[in-house]
Amino acid sequence: SSFQTQLKSGLSKLGFPKEALEFIFNFTGGSEDYLKIPEAKGSVSAIRNEPFFMPLYELYLTYGGIFRLTFGPKSFLIVSDPSIAKHILKDNPKSYSKGILAEILDFVMGKGLIPADGEIWRVRRRAIVPALHQKFVAAMFGLFGEATDRLCKKLDAAASDGEDVEMESLFSRLTLDIIGKAVFNYDFDSLNVDAGIVEAVYTVLREAEDRSVAPIPFWEIPIWKDISPKLKKVNAALKLVNETLDGLIAICKKMVDEEELQFHEEYMNEQDPSILHFLLASGDDVSSKQLRDDLMTLLIAGHETSAAVLTWTFYLLSKEPSVMAKLQNEVDSVLGDRFPTVEDMKKLKYTTRVINESLRLYPQPPVLIRRSLEDDVLGKYPIKRNEDIFISVWNLHRSPHHWEDAEKFNPERWPLDGPNPNETNQNFSYLPFGGGPRKCIGDMFASFETIVAVAMLVRRFDFQMALGAPPVKMTTGATIHTTEGLKMTVTRRRQPPIIPNLDVPTVKIDSSLNIPEAKAV
Ligand code: HEM
Repeated sequence: SSFQTQLKSGLSKLGFPKEALEFIFNFTGGSEDYLKIPEAKGSVSAIRNEPFFMPLYELYLTYGGIFRLTFGPKSFLIVSDPSIAKHILKDNPKSYSKGILAEILDFVMGKGLIPADGEIWRVRRRAIVPALHQKFVAAMFGLFGEATDRLCKKLDAAASDGEDVEMESLFSRLTLDIIGKAVFNYDFDSLNVDAGIVEAVYTVLREAEDRSVAPIPFWEIPIWKDISPKLKKVNAALKLVNETLDGLIAICKKMVDEEELQFHEEYMNEQDPSILHFLLASGDDVSSKQLRDDLMTLLIAGHETSAAVLTWTFYLLSKEPSVMAKLQNEVDSVLGDRFPTVEDMKKLKYTTRVINESLRLYPQPPVLIRRSLEDDVLGKYPIKRNEDIFISVWNLHRSPHHWEDAEKFNPERWPLDGPNPNETNQNFSYLPFGGGPRKCIGDMFASFETIVAVAMLVRRFDFQMALGAPPVKMTTGATIHTTEGLKMTVTRRRQPPIIPNLDVPTVKIDSSLNIPEAKAV
């Protein structure tokens, strides 16, 4: 067909009338039209008040699993077809890079694992993945429980005072506290502290999100980039975060040097089970800039995503009291008032389905970004190198072609005794953690973290949308946020008798816990 194209353009240069050429090439079956990716018409800017992935859903229903969207000189391919998504992510990942994403995130993640491509990515992935081994994840349960317990204390105070709470920001702080400890053994204590490093982290995060939805790269405009007060603030925040990270790296290096003679199996250290400790103790040979980029990447990747999952899970639960009742039932009978352990994960089956289903309806991030590095074929369409591609996980997860009652929050859609749904057993119609070689490395960590948080919270409290709360609408940066927060009324549950769960072997109860309402049965 490229021969036909050449022939056609050659003949047209020689002066053959266009109509005649169209006729001849259609007649010989040589028309390329059927190989041309459908082009979405109409203006997307007309729909300003919605997050950008919403109009893409409408366009998907009209134009199908792959279409082209053009804004002025820029054009994007929007993919919503599971087999094309699988091709890009799993079957031919070598032909794709992170494209625009890497450009936008460069200022904060540098060549960290999410934006990195090619050889750097390969080497860093190989170094970092082992740090999230099973023992590490198991060692995180205490952390998940303690951090959630701190949040419970906050909610308890709010319940006593009869004050409504804005859950989205609390979830953001919960997951920041967890990921700080997990990645570099640093306690942000952001549930209680607001200033300094916590504020700096948020400044940097908001900037990353602003950049990812900016129509033009305002941070590259000459002069402006040097005088803009906002960018000055961002740079100051970035400096503080970087210095803090350098300090933590130095402390950890010292620790690793001192323990050298007796280092542990799998480089685990009970005092510091962090990913940073693992990397240093395992002799990861890397520049300090690269290490910092990777830590920053892990911090951001593991923070916003989990926070968003918790936010939308509680939003969904508030709309489906029957799901909440079932969930609380399971948690009461499996856990009572213990902190969850790794053994409980197999038993909290319905809780797991609630998270699975929340991730289906609110995938974080809602689109995956790629750029083609060479010519390829997507479905039946040839594409060129240098195409910017959005894989809409939102569309895949809500497609009426793949899901019954796609819009309904229905954890029952996956049987409790069936396999945990993932991209492989759902044929890329469901890919909450991506797929292929660039799949999320924190999937276990994040699943357990969110299961623990949900279980502990619903065990102790009931959650309702606050009276007069603003309607919950979506807005987007890297993950899906609410536009005006998730304002809820939290009340202590009148708890059923604790059902002791005798077949759980070692139960570690922290005697300092002292949760008053737990005993007041
Ligand atoms: C990649 C989702 C939590 C670290 C990804 C990708 C998705 C994802 C969809 C693939 C991105 C792409 O292909 O473009 C999530 C969700 C989370 C979560 C929904 C929470 C519920 C975490 C956590 C960590 C983490 C806790 C770290 C501890 C990463 C990293 C990558 C990644 C490093 C890049 C991997 C690579 O490119 O090789 N995540 N993630 N994520 N995630 Fe997560």
